[in-house]
Amino acid sequence: MFRPVQADIDLLALKHNFQMVKSYAKKSAVMAVVKANAYGHGSIAVAKTLKDADAFAVASTDEAVLLRTAGIVQPIVLLEGFLTEDELAVIWQYKLTVVLHSFYQIILLSEAIKKNPHWIISVWLKIDTGMHRLGILPEQVMLAWDSLKVLQNIQIMGLMSHFSCAEEQQDKYNQQQLNILQGFLSMTTKRYSIANSAAIIHFSKSHGDWVRPGIMLYGVNPIANKWVDLQPVMTLKSKLIAIKTLLPGEAIGYGASWISPEKMLIGIVAIGYADGYPRHIRENTPVLIGNKKVPIIGRVSMDMMMLDLRQAEDVHIGDTVTLWGKGLAIEYIAECAGTIAYELLSQVTPRVKMNYIN
Ligand SMILES: Cc1ncc(COP(=O)(O)O)c(C=O)c1O
Repeated sequence: MFRPVQADIDLLALKHNFQMVKSYAKKSAVMAVVKANAYGHGSIAVAKTLKDADAFAVASTDEAVLLRTAGIVQPIVLLEGFLTEDELAVIWQYKLTVVLHSFYQIILLSEAIKKNPHWIISVWLKIDTGMHRLGILPEQVMLAWDSLKVLQNIQIMGLMSHFSCAEEQQDKYNQQQLNILQGFLSMTTKRYSIANSAAIIHFSKSHGDWVRPGIMLYGVNPIANKWVDLQPVMTLKSKLIAIKTLLPGEAIGYGASWISPEKMLIGIVAIGYADGYPRHIRENTPVLIGNKKVPIIGRVSMDMMMLDLRQAEDVHIGDTVTLWGKGLAIEYIAECAGTIAYELLSQVTPRVKMNYIN
């Protein structure tokens, strides 16, 4: 059997979502976040489609080199910077932009620049305004700034930070983080970037010079209880590969965890956790066959899952089954799996065929 699992990637929806970013943040440049293979959508295809993005952001030098080699010409920003001096040679060679988030990096950079005076490297200085993940602590920002200012051939793009509670519209922490960042602007540079998708949507005061949308580009609304005009980019699909009748009391799947309450039809779908569908999803989570919602029963296994067909007896072997995307919001499926859409999207595995639709 050829594996029927496929992720349709709607590039028009991607463009639409990008336009939504532009309409929320009219005055800001857009750094499109395409790390983790563009949240599972394929970073090269996504970056090639987003021709109007002013820059791209990735998590690692490998991800950046992949994009540069594929012909992406916009600035590519390494959100975690670099770890070794050797990496800086690659960063220079591929004209990548680095986020400096520690004195460790500033020292490595200054040593490398001394040895290679012909290098010109663009940098963002990341400040820890309260996330306490990466960034220079507020009390050390001026020291970091002064150490950077004296370096030759460094182009400082601005100050960067990241919100820890951006999807909570009422959270006071957002304003506090923004205040800390903005407090440094008069003493350093006027340019800054802090807004991710959620902040782009509900916190316009934080937009600054560069916004950094990730999840909204892929059509996922990061804010609960607020409608946003976004279109899902990925629709994950497979096919029904078997239909069978269970008798009352018969069990299905690993652990024999689901017992048939009556004589009934079940369907078997060719998709499982080795494709990226979460094993721990709760029972009765829907899939879509045609426009009918059909519940999952029993445990999701590596390559297959089972469906309760009692309300869908007219389906056939070979019918398309949608796991999330158009017609079935990934936000809801993520809730059923006790996770977030970011995780579902980025965990789609390489054996799922990508089908790009223009
Ligand atoms: C530093 C940084 N900026 C921007 C983003 C994009 O965030 P979102 O996908 O919520 O828009 C991320 C994603 O995790 C990030 O780590």
